[in-house]
Amino acid sequence: MSKPNRKNPMMTLDRSLAQFWSTYRQLSPLAQQIQQILSGQEPPINDHIAFRTLNLDPIQIEQIAQPFLKFGYQAKGNYIFTAKKLQAKHFEHPKSAYPKIFISQLQVDQFSPFVRDVAQVIKQQVADTQSPTDGLFLTSGRCWPIQKRIYDQLLAESEYAAWLYVFGFVPNHFTILVNQLSDLTDLASVNQRLKDHGFCINDSGGEIKGSPSVGLEQSSTLAAQLPVQFDDLREPISIPACYYEFAKRYHGFSGFVTDSADKIFESTDVKQVCNAEE
Ligand code: NI
Repeated sequence: MSKPNRKNPMMTLDRSLAQFWSTYRQLSPLAQQIQQILSGQEPPINDHIAFRTLNLDPIQIEQIAQPFLKFGYQAKGNYIFTAKKLQAKHFEHPKSAYPKIFISQLQVDQFSPFVRDVAQVIKQQVADTQSPTDGLFLTSGRCWPIQKRIYDQLLAESEYAAWLYVFGFVPNHFTILVNQLSDLTDLASVNQRLKDHGFCINDSGGEIKGSPSVGLEQSSTLAAQLPVQFDDLREPISIPACYYEFAKRYHGFSGFVTDSADKIFESTDVKQVCNAEE
């Protein structure tokens, strides 16, 4: 056995992934419990980690993806979400044990002057205080003040923009690869077991998005509601934060399906109400 080597890029990637998980767990407090419900004591295989950003220099996909490229990841698929005005790319590591990375970005120029102005504030604050090409930028969260009246106005135009404004640069979701679970073989069983434990499944577009014929089926929990303190409110209020996704892949397909991902984005939508029994 060789000694751990600080210069070994794999060690650094492992540490980064551990940091992403640690950040994500704070925004998805039941993630560990979901793992235990579905996978027992065995840690599940992570299919992908998803991040959100804006298409503005210096926080565009290509810029914040730099650390992954240094770790050996390669750019693979490109995706366009016309209605939500988003673009996305996914990245894969040659070692399939590492999760895919899915990064989407808001196409800011397609929005109102109000959204564009808020996006400029975010971008400028990051440019002044952060290093977006640094490996742990995507655990840095938010470095700008937030106001409820701005959040509400963003929400009216883009749920995605409102979420990014509040939570900033953090993993939006982790994804359990259902193919590798030992006693659950399909998404319907995964969803049912979670519902039996009181979890709510995102049912926008049906609980299961995609199909074996497109190579990928996906489902997700609704995002956990976490208290957020806005500068213009006295008390914190609850906002949907992060969610857990579940993916079953077929025929070796390693990409993403736009129609499905479009609905998965809605797992952070404040309009989706969880009616499950506590
Ligand atoms: Ni996803």
